[in-house]
Amino acid sequence: MAGMDFKLLQENWHKYGQTDPLWSIVSMPDKEGNKWTTEEFFQTGVNEVEKLMAFLKTAGLKLPSGSALDFGCGIGRVTQPLCEHFETCHGVDIAPSMIDLANQYNRYGDRCHYHLNERADLQLFADNSINFIYCVITLQNMAPRYSRVYLQEFMRILAPGGLLLFQIPSEPNNWRQKVKQRVPQAWLNQFYRLKHRGKPIMELHGLPRAEVIGLIKAGHGLLLNLKKDHRAFDEWTSYQYCVTKAEREGAK
Ligand SMILES: C[S@@+](CC[C@H](N)C(=O)[O-])C[C@H]1O[C@@H](n2cnc3c(N)ncnc32)[C@H](O)[C@@H]1O
Repeated sequence: MAGMDFKLLQENWHKYGQTDPLWSIVSMPDKEGNKWTTEEFFQTGVNEVEKLMAFLKTAGLKLPSGSALDFGCGIGRVTQPLCEHFETCHGVDIAPSMIDLANQYNRYGDRCHYHLNERADLQLFADNSINFIYCVITLQNMAPRYSRVYLQEFMRILAPGGLLLFQIPSEPNNWRQKVKQRVPQAWLNQFYRLKHRGKPIMELHGLPRAEVIGLIKAGHGLLLNLKKDHRAFDEWTSYQYCVTKAEREGAK
């Protein structure tokens, strides 16, 4: 069951979407205060998908065809270039303001569906229904009790033989982050709201690598590639996981 901290998570991201959406997604210090141009910003997504293709090639992996899901899609920075590679793309986000903007910037009509998902699961997708799942700089922004469930959900909805590529930090590198993990998120929210006079808050969390690998295995997943990733501001050791799901008899 989603708690009070889930509502706060949504409120924070909705506020970011209303006030400084592009910087909240790609938080380069010199871009704070609506300083990204949309062209520059969306180009980072094109570059990211090119890098993804190069990574798959180097790792000897084939991009599946069919449907893709970009979980925590924001305004569609990566969803849009993914549309070049799939028949159908789904972008899912918790923030109404982000989904509104994503729809405004959609250049692929009906082939791209943006969904507002206010649930702590992915019930909107059927078992074994998505061929490619992508998720970066998103699971790190929510408490482990939520990222854990979304990982289980990724494994449930991933089609056998499909690919799941996601990033999540594993453990903090400094005492400040270690202490923060022990304080209830609702208290931290309250504290930072007062400190920053009502500005939205970006949470930072992780899930230990061993636990992530356990969840993958429990979901009939096979870890194809694991590498260090640097998206968690150097405050955490973070990993990118590339996973497939075993073909099972009777699976559709
Ligand atoms: C840092 S942004 C990254 C956006 C996108 N992945 C990208 O790389 O361009 C994180 C996004 O995750 C979304 N998000 C946070 N928690 C979520 C949840 N529980 N379910 C869906 N989206 C969520 C936020 O609203 C925000 O748009």
